Amino acid sequence: MGQAAWARDLAERLLAEPLPRRWAHTQGVAAQAATLAPILGDEADMLTAAAYLHDIGYSPELVDTGFHPLDGARYLRDVAGADERLCRLVAHHSCAVNEAAERGLLDVLNAEFAQERPELVEALTYCDMTTGPDGRHLDVTERLAEIHSRYGPEHLVSRSITTSTPCILAAVRAVESALAVQRA
Ligand SMILES: [Fe+2]
Repeated sequence: MGQAAWARDLAERLLAEPLPRRWAHTQGVAAQAATLAPILGDEADMLTAAAYLHDIGYSPELVDTGFHPLDGARYLRDVAGADERLCRLVAHHSCAVNEAAERGLLDVLNAEFAQERPELVEALTYCDMTTGPDGRHLDVTERLAEIHSRYGPEHLVSRSITTSTPCILAAVRAVESALAVQRA
């Protein structure tokens, strides 16, 4: 069984029942990851696995610090025995360093999980940030607006998304350019 199939089963077990909307989002992000096969080659399966796992830290079974990239990555490392690269991608997905800083967890995050190769980090960010909460495709600007309206202006997540916006837009543009070059 490839990593993606394993990851799908694990994420479904952790998310489908307690958080059906988060599971719908997760499946949409994984579907987006599959579309990046032309630019990812052999790494497409791992990226799809990371897409399935990126939000498992929201599962009530896992919540510890309340910072879902860290809680998810720790579970993958300590409980699921996942590939180190998957743990790193989940820990740092969608420019997580900015929310980590807001929560006073930046040093902890960086000490426990190194960054993965930028192309993979950008690919996961692209998939997450072009998929809405119900799993449907959204333009990145719609996705950013959706996060702001869901959390409201005062929320830590909204502040973090504002700080992360340049990083998110750069990731989306990098992937779109790679796809355009591939198609040309
Ligand atoms: Fe997330």
